[in-house]
Amino acid sequence: MGANLARNLARNGFTVALHNRSVEKTDTLLAKHGDEGSFIRTETLQELVDSLEKPRRVLIMVKAGAPVDAVVDQLVPLLEEGDIVIDAGNSHYEDTRRREAALAEKGLHFVGVGVSGGEEGALNGPSIMPGGSKQSYEALGPLLEKIAAKASDGTPCCAWIGTDGAGHFVKMVHNGIEYADMQVIGEAYDLLRSGAGIEPAEQAAIFEEWNKGDLSSFLIEITAEVLRHVDAKTGKPFVDVVVDSAGQKGTGRWTVQSALDLGSPVSGIAESVFARGISSQRAQREIAQETLAGHEGEVSLPENFVEDVRQALYASKLVSYAQGLDMLASAAKEYGWELKLDEIASLWRAGCIIRAELLKDIMEAYKGGEKPANLLFAPAFAKSVGEAVPAWRRVVATAVQLGIPVPVFSSSLAYYDGLRRKRLPAAVIQGQRDLFGAHTYQRVDTEGTFHTLWGEDHSEISAVDTH
Ligand code: 6PG
Repeated sequence: MGANLARNLARNGFTVALHNRSVEKTDTLLAKHGDEGSFIRTETLQELVDSLEKPRRVLIMVKAGAPVDAVVDQLVPLLEEGDIVIDAGNSHYEDTRRREAALAEKGLHFVGVGVSGGEEGALNGPSIMPGGSKQSYEALGPLLEKIAAKASDGTPCCAWIGTDGAGHFVKMVHNGIEYADMQVIGEAYDLLRSGAGIEPAEQAAIFEEWNKGDLSSFLIEITAEVLRHVDAKTGKPFVDVVVDSAGQKGTGRWTVQSALDLGSPVSGIAESVFARGISSQRAQREIAQETLAGHEGEVSLPENFVEDVRQALYASKLVSYAQGLDMLASAAKEYGWELKLDEIASLWRAGCIIRAELLKDIMEAYKGGEKPANLLFAPAFAKSVGEAVPAWRRVVATAVQLGIPVPVFSSSLAYYDGLRRKRLPAAVIQGQRDLFGAHTYQRVDTEGTFHTLWGEDHSEISAVDTH
């Protein structure tokens, strides 16, 4: 990733000083790609720092966690007031907040930058989410905007996100949405394969077709390619020879951990992380296949099942975006960031993993004065999801009858129904809490906080709010 970002900068006319703790890696890059632009070879960090214009802009790309601290600790003594250290890795936003505060005390800028698009994106144009001080963006913005992907209207997929860890936070939520988006595609595949008996090659054609409509996105496009791929060794579909345990580096999990702290209901994203968890419990799954009953029974598929699955996929995908954006709104309040959801949707339109046609409409939904409190309330989306609801319900009901797990399809529908519900059963929970712990409650008809004397005569008294 680091090498590709360096090449991208050089290809765009910037002189790039290179440093790697193993000089051979620097030399390999120069031998292969040295003619792509202007590079400066350096062997030590001191040489690197000495070769830079002031204020220095030092971009580091190392593994998240302790390696970032180690590099920052080596760099800081060599830098001068006003210099900028850029962490373009997938760091946790709390680490970025800590590092930003520590470097600010020394008069240095620390900028956590979310970069999405994988190695290919880094080279040809990623989506870039920079945090840090606004002042640092003045020095960095022109550079980053130049190397970023461009949306179809030419807008660079890069904009200043907000102070301290805002850039890494937004990248983390991007990844949370990415997890949910990948899981719903997996669920659609499973329904078509295990439910309707459609083989991977045929599904590839279906996904290709879907990619022409409102599901059009990078992840749908690459799914068609993955499903079409045949294993050279066995002649079997590639997806049949790959072990069905999904790996994870942590950003999806971080999204959910942070959402729990914020009280943000990202149920679809959470289910997608848990789905990777259950996929990795292969030993338990083997036992369960032999020992646990399913009672699936005979199920006749709805008439237009493939189209139903497409609509359920669209609705569930939209809920994942809605949950992610709602989480951003909660985080903005908690951390004092002025996150502009229209700009964030705009810079996700190209370059990143969740790039999708849909993002253009999401961007439009948040433009202008009247911002919807939830993406699903934007008139265009309220209409499109509303139209998908009958198919969505049929698909979830069919999946339940067939015993096909669809955690994100079903939890997204539950979220949608939960939002729509005038009265939730939470009043029962409040009653239980008040009974066993005198936790108090509010009434629908009178201001104030109350407690019922459950152990006495069940009369109600005014109380101090204990939540
Ligand atoms: C991106 C991706 C990238 C991430 C991979 C792997 O935006 O380019 O999100 O940052 O590292 O997708 O993530 P997992 O290993 O957790 O699936």
